[in-house]
Amino acid sequence: MIFKKKPAALKSTEEMKQLVSDCNLRHIAFIMDGNGRWATRRGLPRETGHSVGARVFKKTVTTCRDWGIPTVTAYAFSTENWKRPEKEVNEIMRLLDSYIKEAREDNEKNRIRYIFLGDKSRLSDDLRQKCEYLEELTKDNRLTLNIALNYGGRDEIVHAVNTLISKGADRVTEDDISRCLYTSASPDPDLIVRPSGEYRLSNFLLWQSAYSELYFTDTLWPDFDEAQLQLAVIDFSNRSRRFGGV
Ligand code: FPP
Repeated sequence: MIFKKKPAALKSTEEMKQLVSDCNLRHIAFIMDGNGRWATRRGLPRETGHSVGARVFKKTVTTCRDWGIPTVTAYAFSTENWKRPEKEVNEIMRLLDSYIKEAREDNEKNRIRYIFLGDKSRLSDDLRQKCEYLEELTKDNRLTLNIALNYGGRDEIVHAVNTLISKGADRVTEDDISRCLYTSASPDPDLIVRPSGEYRLSNFLLWQSAYSELYFTDTLWPDFDEAQLQLAVIDFSNRSRRFGGV
């Protein structure tokens, strides 16, 4: 479903908190798409789109936290994104590095638990160690922010099955696989939001999205503001979730 309208008036934080609680929105996930197009349309380098996208990501996480959504997941870099020009990959890694530094410094204030989803072995040693340090530093915080980094949904399932095989399993259950996914600390996403007018999951949370509600909008990620987020949550609150029942 495509929404181009803005809500008539922004709801207050209190109203959104109530809505989030009433519709039991426990986990929201974002595919942060459209940064490149946003920049290109303005005659700017694609890297500028990612830089604005990183700012929008920070703001979105804060808003979700203020509304009482306990788990947020964002797709920052896929296993396929290494095919991009080196300059662009380097800029995304630089943005992540700088975000991790801020997250460390703001830990006392934000109290967010950071978990990096994906295969960290392909990251630089420096970035991998910073990710691991942040995960350890924040592991007792209550609100969870999953950042998918060198992440692929198929890769994650293969990784989970191989983990089970290495522990001696010859048959596996759905629960076994769920427990071995990078997201094992989080419930499945209730809502997955994809901006930029693309209608696919692009290898994101393939296992976990079995019963997720999907929300698509034409808005490009750098333009995804609080009004857009409200539209997504309001739309979710009107969905009838049956999980295969009646
Ligand atoms: C997809 O848009 C976006 C990415 C591959 C990178 C997302 C990265 C960030 C928002 C910045 C770093 C993140 C953090 C957590 C600090 P696209 O480039 O595919 O856009 P396009 O489809 O318009 O080309």
